[in-house]
Amino acid sequence: LAVVVLISGNGSNLQALIDAQEQGAPYRIRAVISNEPTAFGLERARRHGIPTQVIDHRDYPDRASFDVALAKTIDGYDPGLVVLAGFMRILTPEFVAHYRGRLLNIHPSLLPKYRGLHTHRRVLEAGDTEHGASVHFVTPELDGGPVVLQARVPVQPGDDPDTLAARVLKQEHRLYPTVVRWFAEGRLWLDGSGRPCLDGEV
Ligand code: GRF
Repeated sequence: LAVVVLISGNGSNLQALIDAQEQGAPYRIRAVISNEPTAFGLERARRHGIPTQVIDHRDYPDRASFDVALAKTIDGYDPGLVVLAGFMRILTPEFVAHYRGRLLNIHPSLLPKYRGLHTHRRVLEAGDTEHGASVHFVTPELDGGPVVLQARVPVQPGDDPDTLAARVLKQEHRLYPTVVRWFAEGRLWLDGSGRPCLDGEV
């Protein structure tokens, strides 16, 4: 399965996907595309000989023209799956529709709780005792798509956003390769009514 990964920053989730690929996971990351020229994830890709492209959103007058340029670049690699991994852009409904059923995202919360940004701080402020991460198919609603797999972590006394984020990230790095593998094996898909279907046991 040909995969294109979109990033904006550090790329630790990208790294987890690269590591799994190198350990034999049944997918190939054909390209890593970033909207941020300085994203460290680009360096991670280069170290593994994976082609990289930068589509800088500052070069475009509006969201729609950025998304059109991004989609053209992605389609040049003809991916069976597009993976958002720390990609910090809101995508237009047209872009999302174009990749329906083959666009995944990972979000650092137990969706549907805490959509949007600063999830770790919000969880601490709410006094929750549990937090986690979710992998979901992307739909036009921000962080609203059907959840495929989640991981839970305890909130511990003395946690701050950084210690909590680190605990969640560890789970993210387990979740994402698992879900991309399922998709690559043809075990996971989005059905006609927008429900995620998984063949076989988790
Ligand atoms: C992670 O919390 C991820 O859930 C969110 O972006 C953060 C950074 O991800 N999407 P990465 O280290 O750039 O993969």
